[in-house]
Amino acid sequence: GKPAKSQFVCQTCGTVAARWAGKCAACGDWNSIVEEAIAAAPPGSGMAGASKGKALVLESLSGAPEEAPRFLTGMAELDRVTGGGLVPGSVLLIAGEPGIGKSTLLLQLTAALASAGRRALYFSGEEASAQVRLRAQRLGLADAPVALAAETSLSNILATLHNERAADLVVIDSIQTLWSDALEAAPGSVSQVRASTQSLVRYAKQAGVALLLVGHVTKEGQIAGPKAVEHVVDTVLSFEGDRGHSYRILRATKNRFGATDEIGVFEMAGSGLREVANPSELFLGERDSSAPGTAVFAGMEGTRPILVEIQALVAPSGLGTPRRAVVGWEQSRLAMLIAVLEARCGVSFANHDVYLNVAGGLRIVEPAADLAAAAALIGSLAGRALDPKEIHFGEISLSGAVRAAPHTAARLKEAAKLGFTSAVMPAAGEAPAKVARFKLRRIPHLKALAEDLST
Ligand code: TYD
Ligand code: MG
Repeated sequence: GKPAKSQFVCQTCGTVAARWAGKCAACGDWNSIVEEAIAAAPPGSGMAGASKGKALVLESLSGAPEEAPRFLTGMAELDRVTGGGLVPGSVLLIAGEPGIGKSTLLLQLTAALASAGRRALYFSGEEASAQVRLRAQRLGLADAPVALAAETSLSNILATLHNERAADLVVIDSIQTLWSDALEAAPGSVSQVRASTQSLVRYAKQAGVALLLVGHVTKEGQIAGPKAVEHVVDTVLSFEGDRGHSYRILRATKNRFGATDEIGVFEMAGSGLREVANPSELFLGERDSSAPGTAVFAGMEGTRPILVEIQALVAPSGLGTPRRAVVGWEQSRLAMLIAVLEARCGVSFANHDVYLNVAGGLRIVEPAADLAAAAALIGSLAGRALDPKEIHFGEISLSGAVRAAPHTAARLKEAAKLGFTSAVMPAAGEAPAKVARFKLRRIPHLKALAEDLST
């Protein structure tokens, strides 16, 4: 029969379906299936085309690895998250909710680089030039030699870039505002976002320019034009924060040129984003250590220790099914901890609502937070305040055993530096080096902590 001219492709997972459907059968995403034209077969499909290609020189795995060349941005927190600066020819996506501070961050970045003698271009598709200038003035950056244009046409931007000889950094704010006249779809649609991203990525690789794309995230935490953008860029940084707090955290969720466990911490002030070199001081800043149900967790973010307060509220419940709510931690982790406390330590939360909160709007993913969360929970249930100069860390297994945690020395050193005097930590693992005037209580099982706090 006649070959089909189009196919139906899920824009989230890439699965090709025979017909359109509201829900993708493969990944379960709704409204993600889009009709696409089938491209002509790629040149040389099958062996018939072998004569047209050029044979490659195959290499071995050994030989000197080449470090990607990089340049530092001068913003230490950004350099930390990227793994040592920007890589020419690489593409970085900065994703975040509207209003979180992406434009502010990138304007400060382009201004810093331009003032340091680099050629930095800023394309704003969201705001008029006058608005960007006004922000620059408020930030005290109006004199920085940034090259600015307010534009949303992809072809105009590409034409401008092709006339550029010496660009080091190009910022597109944001990828969702761009449109290509080669497509009929509306700006912001998946196909427009994908086409714009692909053209810009091709430009960045050819020209050896570091390209930064801004991407808006929807309420559900997805980048509009979902995985299509994340797949083709080298690095994805998510810019997070809580509306009620001034802290902003930059976190790598994908990085072809470095680790993804480092975070950068900023504070949104009247004069823009301020880098926070000592996040522990920030997260412990508003502490009320006399309240029962708070414990300090000595955590690690990448190579940097961060002390943060964990707050619990355990209160008699009027509901048939008591509430379990958590902010900044995993709900399933709280459920597990409560189950272990009940089954292994004889601490019952029956008929009690339980709320757990990580102070300062930080989101904790480290399992070593278990012990601090347990201490906060037991403390609140017993109505007892913990020693305000004590820290906790250690992962708890389903048996109630306290597992060894990595980076013990770094956690203790940070705690001592900030004036803490004792730690409750795993008995398992190597004995840490002694820290002057610092007491260690190494416990093998959660039961030891429960007995301490309930007597
Ligand atoms: P913005 O960078 O426009 O966010 P995004 O590009 O992610 O949408 O910043 C938005 C908020 O930041 C805005 O509500 C005002 C605030 N802000 C400050 O508090 N101080 C400042 O110096 C600036 C420039 C913005
Ligand atoms: Mg913006």
